[in-house]
Amino acid sequence: MRDLHCHILPGVDDGARDMEESLAMFHAAREVGITSITCTPHCRDPYFDYLPMWRAFRAFESAVRRIDETFPLQMGFEVNYAKLIELGLSWAEKLHFNGTNEFLLELEVGARSSRYGDYERTIWELQGMGYDVIIAHPERYTAIQRDIGLAQELVHMGCKLQASTDFLKGGRLGRERRPAQRMLKEGLYTYFASDAHRVEHYEYFAKATSRWM
Ligand SMILES: [Fe+2]
Repeated sequence: MRDLHCHILPGVDDGARDMEESLAMFHAAREVGITSITCTPHCRDPYFDYLPMWRAFRAFESAVRRIDETFPLQMGFEVNYAKLIELGLSWAEKLHFNGTNEFLLELEVGARSSRYGDYERTIWELQGMGYDVIIAHPERYTAIQRDIGLAQELVHMGCKLQASTDFLKGGRLGRERRPAQRMLKEGLYTYFASDAHRVEHYEYFAKATSRWM
Protein backbone atom coordinates (compact mmCIF):
# COMPACT_ATOMS: atom_id res chain seq x y z
CA MET A 1 0.00 0.00 0.00
CA ARG A 2 1.34 3.35 -1.03
CA ASP A 3 1.24 6.51 1.08
CA LEU A 4 1.52 9.45 -1.31
CA HIS A 5 1.15 12.35 1.09
CA CYS A 6 3.02 12.72 4.37
CA HIS A 7 5.29 15.09 6.25
CA ILE A 8 7.91 12.57 7.26
CA LEU A 9 11.09 14.46 6.28
CA PRO A 10 13.08 15.74 9.26
CA GLY A 11 12.99 19.40 10.21
CA VAL A 12 11.68 20.97 7.01
CA ASP A 13 8.04 21.79 7.78
CA ASP A 14 5.45 21.21 10.51
CA GLY A 15 5.90 17.42 10.26
CA ALA A 16 8.73 15.33 11.77
CA ARG A 17 10.97 17.54 13.88
CA ASP A 18 14.15 15.50 13.55
CA MET A 19 15.50 12.25 12.11
CA GLU A 20 14.51 10.31 15.20
CA GLU A 21 10.89 11.29 14.72
CA SER A 22 11.10 10.62 10.95
CA LEU A 23 12.30 7.08 11.61
CA ALA A 24 9.65 6.52 14.29
CA MET A 25 7.09 7.55 11.66
CA PHE A 26 8.69 5.21 9.16
CA HIS A 27 8.31 2.28 11.57
CA ALA A 28 4.70 3.26 12.30
CA ALA A 29 4.00 3.44 8.55
CA ARG A 30 5.38 -0.05 7.98
CA GLU A 31 3.36 -1.40 10.88
CA VAL A 32 0.09 -0.25 9.32
CA GLY A 33 0.93 -1.91 6.01
CA ILE A 34 2.44 0.94 4.03
CA THR A 35 4.86 -0.47 1.48
CA SER A 36 5.95 2.68 -0.33
CA ILE A 37 6.16 6.33 0.66
CA THR A 38 6.12 9.56 -1.29
CA CYS A 39 7.59 12.29 0.92
CA THR A 40 5.63 15.52 0.40
CA PRO A 41 6.87 18.49 2.44
CA HIS A 42 4.85 21.70 2.18
CA CYS A 43 5.51 23.91 -0.79
CA ARG A 44 4.04 26.98 0.89
CA ASP A 45 5.04 29.76 3.23
CA PRO A 46 6.72 29.74 5.68
CA TYR A 47 8.24 26.32 5.01
CA PHE A 48 9.21 25.99 1.39
CA ASP A 49 12.91 25.75 0.67
CA TYR A 50 13.67 23.52 -2.27
CA LEU A 51 17.28 22.45 -1.77
CA PRO A 52 17.14 21.86 2.02
CA MET A 53 14.02 19.75 1.44
CA TRP A 54 15.87 17.62 -1.09
CA ARG A 55 18.80 17.32 1.30
CA ALA A 56 16.40 16.15 4.03
CA PHE A 57 15.05 13.55 1.59
CA ARG A 58 18.54 12.23 0.84
CA ALA A 59 19.37 12.05 4.56
CA PHE A 60 16.10 10.27 5.32
CA GLU A 61 16.64 7.89 2.42
CA SER A 62 20.06 6.86 3.64
CA ALA A 63 18.77 6.38 7.20
CA VAL A 64 15.95 4.18 5.86
CA ARG A 65 18.44 2.17 3.78
CA ARG A 66 20.14 1.06 6.99
CA ILE A 67 16.80 -0.45 8.10
CA ASP A 68 15.44 -1.64 4.79
CA GLU A 69 17.57 -1.80 1.66
CA THR A 70 14.76 -1.80 -0.84
CA PHE A 71 11.81 0.11 0.64
CA PRO A 72 10.48 2.38 -2.16
CA LEU A 73 10.84 6.08 -1.33
CA GLN A 74 9.98 8.96 -3.62
CA MET A 75 10.46 12.69 -3.29
CA GLY A 76 7.54 15.02 -3.98
CA PHE A 77 5.89 18.16 -2.66
CA GLU A 78 2.46 19.18 -1.45
CA VAL A 79 2.12 22.24 -3.62
CA ASN A 80 -0.10 25.03 -2.38
CA TYR A 81 -2.00 26.76 -5.18
CA ALA A 82 -1.11 30.33 -4.16
CA LYS A 83 2.55 29.40 -3.78
CA LEU A 84 2.57 27.78 -7.22
CA ILE A 85 1.15 30.95 -8.78
CA GLU A 86 3.75 33.03 -6.94
CA LEU A 87 6.60 30.78 -8.11
CA GLY A 88 5.22 30.41 -11.65
CA LEU A 89 4.08 27.28 -13.45
CA SER A 90 7.58 26.64 -14.78
CA TRP A 91 8.32 25.39 -11.24
CA ALA A 92 5.98 22.44 -11.81
CA GLU A 93 8.92 20.66 -13.36
CA LYS A 94 10.69 20.73 -9.98
CA LEU A 95 7.64 20.08 -7.83
CA HIS A 96 6.00 17.01 -9.34
CA PHE A 97 6.75 13.62 -7.83
CA ASN A 98 10.27 12.65 -8.77
CA GLY A 99 10.25 9.97 -11.44
CA THR A 100 6.51 10.12 -12.17
CA ASN A 101 4.22 12.78 -13.65
CA GLU A 102 2.04 13.07 -10.53
CA PHE A 103 1.50 16.53 -9.08
CA LEU A 104 -0.03 16.97 -5.60
CA LEU A 105 -1.96 20.23 -5.46
CA GLU A 106 -3.35 21.79 -2.30
CA LEU A 107 -6.14 24.33 -2.77
CA GLU A 108 -6.85 27.24 -0.41
CA VAL A 109 -8.90 26.06 2.57
CA GLY A 110 -11.26 29.01 2.87
CA ALA A 111 -11.64 29.93 -0.82
CA ARG A 112 -15.11 30.72 -2.17
CA SER A 113 -16.61 28.64 -4.95
CA SER A 114 -15.97 31.53 -7.39
CA ARG A 115 -12.24 30.87 -7.00
CA TYR A 116 -12.61 27.39 -8.48
CA GLY A 117 -12.58 28.83 -12.00
CA ASP A 118 -8.98 29.95 -11.39
CA TYR A 119 -8.11 26.51 -10.02
CA GLU A 120 -9.58 24.83 -13.08
CA ARG A 121 -7.57 27.01 -15.47
CA THR A 122 -4.34 26.20 -13.63
CA ILE A 123 -5.20 22.50 -13.54
CA TRP A 124 -5.84 22.55 -17.32
CA GLU A 125 -2.43 24.09 -17.79
CA LEU A 126 -0.75 21.50 -15.58
CA GLN A 127 -2.55 18.72 -17.42
CA GLY A 128 -1.50 20.28 -20.71
CA MET A 129 2.10 20.11 -19.49
CA GLY A 130 1.59 16.38 -18.97
CA TYR A 131 0.96 16.23 -15.23
CA ASP A 132 -1.48 13.95 -13.50
CA VAL A 133 -3.04 16.28 -10.93
CA ILE A 134 -3.92 14.91 -7.50
CA ILE A 135 -6.00 17.17 -5.25
CA ALA A 136 -4.95 16.96 -1.59
CA HIS A 137 -7.74 16.56 0.99
CA PRO A 138 -10.74 18.14 -0.80
CA GLU A 139 -12.76 17.37 2.35
CA ARG A 140 -10.88 20.22 4.06
CA TYR A 141 -12.03 22.97 1.68
CA THR A 142 -14.97 25.10 2.77
CA ALA A 143 -16.47 25.50 -0.71
CA ILE A 144 -16.44 21.73 -1.30
CA GLN A 145 -17.93 21.10 2.15
CA ARG A 146 -20.82 23.31 1.02
CA ASP A 147 -21.06 21.97 -2.51
CA ILE A 148 -19.73 18.55 -3.34
CA GLY A 149 -20.42 19.34 -7.01
CA LEU A 150 -17.11 21.25 -7.06
CA ALA A 151 -15.31 18.00 -6.21
CA GLN A 152 -17.27 16.18 -8.89
CA GLU A 153 -16.15 18.77 -11.42
CA LEU A 154 -12.52 18.23 -10.46
CA VAL A 155 -12.95 14.50 -11.01
CA HIS A 156 -14.61 15.15 -14.39
CA MET A 157 -11.58 17.22 -15.34
CA GLY A 158 -9.42 14.18 -14.73
CA CYS A 159 -8.08 15.07 -11.30
CA LYS A 160 -7.63 12.36 -8.72
CA LEU A 161 -8.86 13.19 -5.24
CA GLN A 162 -6.89 12.19 -2.14
CA ALA A 163 -8.53 11.86 1.27
CA SER A 164 -6.36 12.51 4.34
CA THR A 165 -7.33 9.71 6.68
CA ASP A 166 -7.42 11.89 9.79
CA PHE A 167 -10.90 12.86 8.53
CA LEU A 168 -11.93 9.96 10.79
CA LYS A 169 -11.34 12.13 13.83
CA GLY A 170 -12.76 15.21 12.13
CA GLY A 171 -9.60 16.16 10.25
CA ARG A 172 -7.22 19.04 10.71
CA LEU A 173 -9.94 21.62 11.22
CA GLY A 174 -12.57 19.37 12.80
CA ARG A 175 -15.13 19.64 10.00
CA GLU A 176 -13.88 17.04 7.58
CA ARG A 177 -15.55 13.80 8.59
CA ARG A 178 -18.95 14.28 7.02
CA PRO A 179 -17.80 15.73 3.70
CA ALA A 180 -15.23 12.93 3.41
CA GLN A 181 -17.85 10.30 4.06
CA ARG A 182 -20.12 11.83 1.44
CA MET A 183 -17.35 11.86 -1.13
CA LEU A 184 -16.45 8.27 -0.26
CA LYS A 185 -20.04 7.26 -0.81
CA GLU A 186 -20.06 9.04 -4.17
CA GLY A 187 -16.89 7.22 -5.16
CA LEU A 188 -14.98 10.46 -5.73
CA TYR A 189 -11.69 9.46 -4.08
CA THR A 190 -8.85 7.66 -5.79
CA TYR A 191 -6.44 7.68 -2.85
CA PHE A 192 -6.25 7.52 0.89
CA ALA A 193 -3.09 9.06 2.34
CA SER A 194 -1.89 9.49 5.90
CA ASP A 195 -0.89 13.16 5.54
CA ALA A 196 1.01 12.19 8.69
CA HIS A 197 2.83 14.88 10.65
CA ARG A 198 3.32 12.64 13.73
CA VAL A 199 3.52 8.94 14.57
CA GLU A 200 -0.05 8.79 15.86
CA HIS A 201 -1.54 9.87 12.53
CA TYR A 202 -0.85 6.43 11.05
CA GLU A 203 -3.49 5.00 13.32
CA TYR A 204 -6.19 6.75 11.24
CA PHE A 205 -4.65 5.46 8.04
CA ALA A 206 -4.87 1.93 9.45
CA LYS A 207 -8.51 2.43 10.44
CA ALA A 208 -9.55 3.93 7.11
CA THR A 209 -7.81 1.35 4.96
CA SER A 210 -9.13 -1.58 6.98
CA ARG A 211 -12.63 -0.21 6.66
CA TRP A 212 -12.72 0.91 3.03
CA MET A 213 -9.96 -0.87 1.12
FE1 LIG B 1 -0.19 17.68 3.99
